[in-house]
Amino acid sequence: MKVFISKNIPSPGIEALEKSGFEVYINESSHRLPQPDLIEACQEVDFLLNVGQGKLDADFFEACKHLKGVALTSVGFDHVDLDAATTHGIPVSNTPDVLSDATADIAFLLMLNVSRKAFFRAMQVVNGAWADFEFTKELGTTIQGKTLGIYGLGRIGLSLARKAQAAYDMKIIYHNRSRNIEAERLVDATYVNFDQLLTQSDVLSVHSNLTEETQYRFNKDAFKRMKSSAIFVNTARGKIHHELDLIDALSTGEIWGAGLDVTDPEPMQPDNPLLKMSNTCVFPHIGSATLETRTQMALLAANNIIAAKNGNNMPQVVNV
Ligand code: DGY
Repeated sequence: MKVFISKNIPSPGIEALEKSGFEVYINESSHRLPQPDLIEACQEVDFLLNVGQGKLDADFFEACKHLKGVALTSVGFDHVDLDAATTHGIPVSNTPDVLSDATADIAFLLMLNVSRKAFFRAMQVVNGAWADFEFTKELGTTIQGKTLGIYGLGRIGLSLARKAQAAYDMKIIYHNRSRNIEAERLVDATYVNFDQLLTQSDVLSVHSNLTEETQYRFNKDAFKRMKSSAIFVNTARGKIHHELDLIDALSTGEIWGAGLDVTDPEPMQPDNPLLKMSNTCVFPHIGSATLETRTQMALLAANNIIAAKNGNNMPQVVNV
């Protein structure tokens, strides 16, 4: 059996595939393959291990309907047409759990970074603008004991809630489509409706999937309802907030700051106004970017493919 890996992964993932008898083909370039090249590369293989956010649409699945399985290296699967995969009987798997703590760390880092204007202040040093010890200018704000609102209390949101409660004694409120009783057992979190989440959060952190329902949920109307002292954090998907509305809300002081690990589009262009503000911090989608986490993600993806090769269900299947 043959597998194509669309971009390099940590070696334990490749070794696991080889050990189970796979012939492994890898796109060694640092660039994502354009769809026609990816389709061509998949013609002679049985499985695809799709790295990152490369889109797999209906045309891809039509052209590659011979595939026996596709393993993603992400927990999110909004870039994949699952209906099309299912139509052709192709199982698709994702990588939940293993990246929850790493992604929550990045949300935490953004929250702290923005609250202390740390990125902006560090750039002042880099740009030679560190003139004197300032006592009253460009002050940050503390997050100790404040209210953290979580939009989407799943595995990542729960990890953030635990860190924020343990380290900063933050009060946790959350909004999901319905209450997450299991999470409430693990962390002291109060379910609120969407409007209460907006109006009560000092920091509002997004951890939901991108769906039709969540797309642009954080827009002009939502930012207007938030506290003028609030910090907005998004480590989930860039399309969950409306970027122009966010820029407006920050420029007019409707909210205080924003920390983003995801943007729309990605990569963000360097002339984006969000990069010039003192109360913002933007990371290049690094939620899961630790060696340990990426290794676990690679192994999980490889193990899903190995399971399918052995005639078993993919353990992390998300469609069939
Ligand atoms: C995920 O796992 O969905 C992360 O955003 C990385 O793509």
